[in-house]
Amino acid sequence: MIADIDLGKGLRLRTLTAHDVALVVEATGAETAHALWGPRPAGPYTPRDARAALNAWDPDAGRQASYGLLKNDRLLGALGLMIDGPHSAELAYWVRPESRRQGLALRGINALTCWTHDELGLDRIWLEINPVNTPSLRLADRAGYQYEQRLPHHCRTWTNPDPEHDTWHDCMIWAHTNSTTPPPI
Ligand SMILES: CC(C)(COP(=O)(O)OP(=O)(O)OC[C@H]1O[C@@H](n2cnc3c(N)ncnc32)[C@H](O)[C@@H]1OP(=O)(O)O)[C@@H](O)C(=O)NCCC(=O)NCCS
Repeated sequence: MIADIDLGKGLRLRTLTAHDVALVVEATGAETAHALWGPRPAGPYTPRDARAALNAWDPDAGRQASYGLLKNDRLLGALGLMIDGPHSAELAYWVRPESRRQGLALRGINALTCWTHDELGLDRIWLEINPVNTPSLRLADRAGYQYEQRLPHHCRTWTNPDPEHDTWHDCMIWAHTNSTTPPPI
């Protein structure tokens, strides 16, 4: 799951590893919500948070990996790939607040979608989006993903640490399939 892709104009997309703790801490410094790697913390990462996140997204384990959007060795955003079957993976994305609306997520999702189809040989890449997240819904559409279905009460809000007492919201599923690869029988 190791990628290192030159996106042009000084922008690079590369796999993040346990060596990137300082980059994640710096990139999340102005965040007020959750970033790519999970619902906690909702806000800036401490070095300990970043270490735990990068260990959980260890690319060598082959299950999930995160990919940084870097310019001049500064982390501007990140995308995550979570393999959930022999032909399929979920994709997630986050751009640091100061760098949004500059086309970064679109460049990242386009590159990682192609790389996942071509290099990992996965046919289906899918997104799980909160229906109120207009930026993410528009981005999915711009990146050529197709809306599939709305799953009621599918995603946890993480407003309560106890899952029994937390609330759950609907999720929209969008997907991108590689038409050059025949679907599994
Ligand atoms: C969603 C997110 C990744 C978009 O990143 P970004 O780099 O700002 O997006 P881009 O600049 O590449 O935008 C590409 C397109 O997405 C849509 N878009 C992005 N942000 C938008 C916004 N705030 N409002 C409306 N549309 C938006 C637009 O169609 C845009 O194209 P345009 O600028 O030509 O109109 C970013 O807002 C983010 O990190 N949000 C918090 C984390 C999150 O919600 N992740 C998704 C979880 S499902």
